[in-house]
Amino acid sequence: MSETIATLLHETRRFPPSEAFKAQANANDPAIYDQAEADWKGWWASWAEKLDWYEPWNEVVSWERPNAKWFSGGKLNACYNAVDRHVEAGRGDKLAFIAEGEPGDVRTFSFAQVKDRVSQIANGLKAQGVVKGDRVCIYMPMGPELAFTMLACARIGAPHSVVFGGFSADSLADRINDAQAKVLVTADGGWRRGGIVALKKIADQALAKGCPSIEKVLVYERVGAPGTLTEGTVTPEYDRGEWRPGRDLWWSEAIDGQSQDCPCEPMEAEDLLFILYTSGSTGKPKGVMHTTGGYLTGVLATSKLVFDLKDDDVFWCTADCGWITGHSYIVYGPMANGVTQIIYEGSPDTPNKDRFWRIIEQHRVNILYTAPTAIRAFMKWGDAYPASCDLSSLRLLGTVGEPINPEAWIWYNEKIGGERCPIVDTWWQTETGAIMLTPLPGIVATKPGSATRPFPGLLASVYSEDGVDVGLEHKGEDVGGLLVLKRPWPSMIRGVWGDPQRFKETYWDRFEDAYFAGDGAKIDAEGYYWILGRVDDIMVVAGHNISTMEVESALVGHPAVAEAAVIGKADPLKGQAIAAFVIIKAGWEPNDALVKALRDHVANEIGPIAKPSTIIFTADVPKTRSGKIMRRLLRDIAEGRVLGDTTTLADPSVVNALKDQYSTPQPA
Ligand code: WT7
Repeated sequence: MSETIATLLHETRRFPPSEAFKAQANANDPAIYDQAEADWKGWWASWAEKLDWYEPWNEVVSWERPNAKWFSGGKLNACYNAVDRHVEAGRGDKLAFIAEGEPGDVRTFSFAQVKDRVSQIANGLKAQGVVKGDRVCIYMPMGPELAFTMLACARIGAPHSVVFGGFSADSLADRINDAQAKVLVTADGGWRRGGIVALKKIADQALAKGCPSIEKVLVYERVGAPGTLTEGTVTPEYDRGEWRPGRDLWWSEAIDGQSQDCPCEPMEAEDLLFILYTSGSTGKPKGVMHTTGGYLTGVLATSKLVFDLKDDDVFWCTADCGWITGHSYIVYGPMANGVTQIIYEGSPDTPNKDRFWRIIEQHRVNILYTAPTAIRAFMKWGDAYPASCDLSSLRLLGTVGEPINPEAWIWYNEKIGGERCPIVDTWWQTETGAIMLTPLPGIVATKPGSATRPFPGLLASVYSEDGVDVGLEHKGEDVGGLLVLKRPWPSMIRGVWGDPQRFKETYWDRFEDAYFAGDGAKIDAEGYYWILGRVDDIMVVAGHNISTMEVESALVGHPAVAEAAVIGKADPLKGQAIAAFVIIKAGWEPNDALVKALRDHVANEIGPIAKPSTIIFTADVPKTRSGKIMRRLLRDIAEGRVLGDTTTLADPSVVNALKDQYSTPQPA
């Protein structure tokens, strides 16, 4: 973290929007900030009015900390707002999706076709007994059917819980059981780097662990049996899992024959739209709850203003729908705005490292929203790849997921944006539902590495450890502290599924008058926000949130491991990389084979994204006298920094031993 601070503090370049961009921008009058501030409820209501409601609301917001109710009394349907209303407005032929699979297969879907497909899926779910309020778990590869299944759930009022297709059987089983999902929708597999992620097999393994709530499993046939041809690419050998008649149903039997008519269920504004799990610092993931009216209002407004969406735009958010970014900025926000989008299934280096730039060239993409970790990989691969493609259709770029280092920002601006596209660095979280800190691209001059300022209508600040609003007092000089949000916002988290106590403790008990985001931040003399990273035990690895505890408990689940301490170590590519300090049991050899076994074990337990990049065998880890692992110290050691005060340590000699060990090469 201190490296980030050092680089950011020296950043003085600024990039105002060009006159040309400003002239065409959806928001170009700075007065919008003051107007929203003067009447923030009216501001959000003005966005809610842009949605279609069956019943009007009585009250914009009622706030009994930590419980917010937005647009009470109002009734609407999220799927209707994302799909049907565009068809009914005569725009049914407009393309909603251009979906490109990794093998190169391209399928397009107009809004009218999306409506038909989504209605069939919704009817298929109903036929399997899904009724309003039932949870549906979705474990699918990135692709249009994933988005359609989410919308189908929204259509009938069944909250979805999407589990990212890179998660393991254990993670899937935990999430299914926590949400008590009734139906699981999955696929035979998905394409990744020319190989197949065997989703049905993993789903079988998850269910074999015991998921009694699951009654049916719908299986979309994406990759087909080995030997199937997709765009000339042969599906390789992979494990198709075991078919369980009575439980398992092919999509083709369950969905394809269904009627294309399915009414949208009118939902209360505060009815649950979805649950999405995110890492918590205790290791057990939290089921973040989002409801219908406020969430949709937040993503509608931010999509429109932050991405400056226009009717004829082609928008591409490269996230997977398994993450909040895909929920908010593929499925709900851009669709509620009726924009055409790209969905891409696979990896950015298949078949070549120019894949993204080919997609932009071929489909004339106007707006690209991606993650700093991807940008750093592109930088490493070299300028020749983007330079060989026509990127002139781009007019706006965005980033999300972690702080972007100024070097990557400048590269993105020059090599991808041709120095003509504003960059929106957007800070937000699974819990915030929508973008919170961001430039409005036609108004705010950007500074590389800063997410600039709160979106209109929000009140943010930074607090000192003991709850003093130091942001409020900043007058012409930099202040640092803990990032907070001081006023409710429509897309805010409504709860942690099944655990109201944890909801309160995690976000609302740290400070008595603000939402605690868990990030450190600085506000500079001009009021710009600079995010410095997590202050809790959560790592942000390649833009994904993973808790140190989660990885530690996976490690100690291996028979060789007595104890483990996990940290996020600064990494030039991933932002943070996972490093694990492991104490092994007597009788085990600290060798390469064990390193590999432990890394694979974590991948199996949580998913490949949680695989430690470094494993260090050690005799002990530094702990406080109360027994808490001193992760900051481990980070200092791993990042080669001078050590500070170690007087609170139970045994200070541990640190020197570790330092020595760290500087001697470890088995790779
Ligand atoms: C955490 C939330 C929101 C979608 C992706 C991640 C970090 C997110 C930024 C940014 C610096 C960022 C924060 C945050 N983060 N965006 N623009 N600059 N840091 O969602 O998994 O809920 O993670 O990601 O640490 O708290 P998430």
